[in-house]
Formats: sequence, structure tokens, C-alpha cells
Amino acid sequence: MRTSHPEKSVSFNSYLEQQRNRIEAQLQRLVPEESEKPAAVHRAMRYSLFAGGKRIRPIFCTEAARLLSQETNPDMESIACSLEMIHTYSLIHDDLPALDNDDYRRGKLTCHKVFGEANAILAGDALLTLAFHVLATLPHTPAEVRAALVAELARAAGTVDGMIGGQVVDLEAPNGPTTPETLEYIHRAKTGALFRAAVLLGAIGERADGKQLEAISRFGANAGLAFQIMDDVLDVESSRESLGKTTGKDLLQKKATYPAFYGVERSKQMAQECVAKASEALEPFGERSGLLKQLAQFLVSRKA
Ligand code: FPP
Ligand code: MG
Repeated sequence: MRTSHPEKSVSFNSYLEQQRNRIEAQLQRLVPEESEKPAAVHRAMRYSLFAGGKRIRPIFCTEAARLLSQETNPDMESIACSLEMIHTYSLIHDDLPALDNDDYRRGKLTCHKVFGEANAILAGDALLTLAFHVLATLPHTPAEVRAALVAELARAAGTVDGMIGGQVVDLEAPNGPTTPETLEYIHRAKTGALFRAAVLLGAIGERADGKQLEAISRFGANAGLAFQIMDDVLDVESSRESLGKTTGKDLLQKKATYPAFYGVERSKQMAQECVAKASEALEPFGERSGLLKQLAQFLVSRKA
């Protein structure tokens, strides 16, 4: 059975909600029940995975797939869920005392605050592991495509220009990066790489050709950078109530941020410029790329 295209007439917000519900339901199916032994780790995994995330990366993934095919691979929702697992693992670990030492995330106590550090570390490890298990065992996807999906996600989550690499360089610059190039590297690697992987996984799952992959990669990288620039802006401009996590910390910790380097207004402009570059990359796809472009715009107009 192939999955059909969502209703085009629904408003953007109800489209987002509909997509979120689909991802939520698939995550529920993929993650072991809380009652499954050993319950402690499953409880911690589920606590963070179902803490109210926006599911942006999975939505980017499924929408990139729809760019290539009206009826997408029936495994596409599972492919999309692997991204949310990696994302949630990174948040759990990022909040640990050894890294950002945060007590709140998505308006709730962080994983280690509720379950203790050891369980939070293991829950993060478990989500990371589960993501690759899901991709490696996709029931409707040929082995060579599964291997390509695993490789792309591993690259994005890894050390060379990937999420861990960005995080390490971020940690190495305790007083903020010394150059704009380092700042851009951190943001592209720490956050942009997973956005790029999100759309690439959707495209790989639909067997996109080299040119299509290149365009979609450019879209994802620029949208991801725009997202992280706005994340920095929101840290300065929002309250803890609206963001669900401690705000103003970047400044206190002299973190690597765009507002610190360029000021808030210029940062917003730069995020918008990245969205324009992202949209431009999709021109070869014509009208079909409307929703992905809207999603990229959503990244910079969001309030949380
Ligand atoms: C918020 O996403 C997340 C970010 C802005 C990414 C920051 C990068 C890291 C935490 C990388 C850490 C890496 C390691 C290896 C520890 P979001 O607004 O989509 O969050 P949501 O899911 O709550 O909506
Ligand atoms: Mg951090």
C-alpha cells in the first residue's frame, strides 16, 4: 500500500498538526512500551520523545519525499521517525550537567532531572541506537536504499561536519567563537546537518537522482542554518513560558550565537536570507515545492 498526498486544501496549521499526529502515532509504534523490561530506560526514552516536540525534522523528511513522489514509500513515516529519535537523543544529552546543564526543556523538567543522570545518558544512547535499528529493518525498502539511509543519518549525526562535530567546536569556544566562519560552522554542523539529513532521507527513500539530491541538500542546509539563527534570536527575545526552556542562557554563558556577533535585527535578516537561498534551491521542482518552502518560512516566523 502506498501513502497518498495529504489534503491540499487544509490550512498550514492544520496540515502541521495532521503531520505531527502521524509522526506521533508511528513513534508510538516504534518505541518499546514503558512496561517492557527494563522499564526504567523505556520510561525515560518515552518521557523525552513525547514531551511535545514540534516534529519539524520528520515533517521536512516526509515533505521532501512528496516532492519526488505523489505516493511515497510506505516506510517513509518510520524513516522520518529515525530523525526525531536522533534529535531527542541530542537534546537529552545536551541538557546534561556535563554539557548545557539545563533543568527545563519543552516546558517540562529535563530527562536527567526526572530519571537521574545515568538513566538519561542511557535513554539518549538507546534512542540513537534505535534510530539505526529502525532504518536497517525497514520492511518495504530495498537493502541498498536502507544502507544509504543509514550512512546519511550517521554522517549527519557524526563528527565530520555533523552534529557531534558542531557540538565539540561549540564546547571548545567557551567565550564564543572568534570568527564568523567558526560560528557558521558550529551552526551548520550542530543543527544544519540534521535538517539537511531530514530532507535527504526523504529523497533517498524515494530514490532521487544525483541532481535532485543536490538541490534538496542545498535546501536542507540553508533551512537548517536559518532555524539555528532563529533559535539564537528566540533565546534572546522569548520568555521561558513561551519557549519551554531556560532563555537568555546563551548570553550568560557567552555562547556562540548570531545575535552576539551581528545583533538581533541583522540576525533575523540573515535567517531570512538563508530561507530565500533554501527556496531558490527548490526552483527546479516548480509548484510542487510550495509546502517545503512554506515549512522553511515557518522556521523563521515561529515563536517557539
Ligand atoms: C531545538 O530543536 C534544538 C536545536 C536548536 C538543536 C541544538 C543542537 C543540539 C542540542 C546538538 C546537541 C548534540 C549533542 C551530540 C549533544 P526544536 O526547536 O526542533 O525542538 P523541539 O523538538 O522541542 O520542537
Ligand atoms: Mg546546547
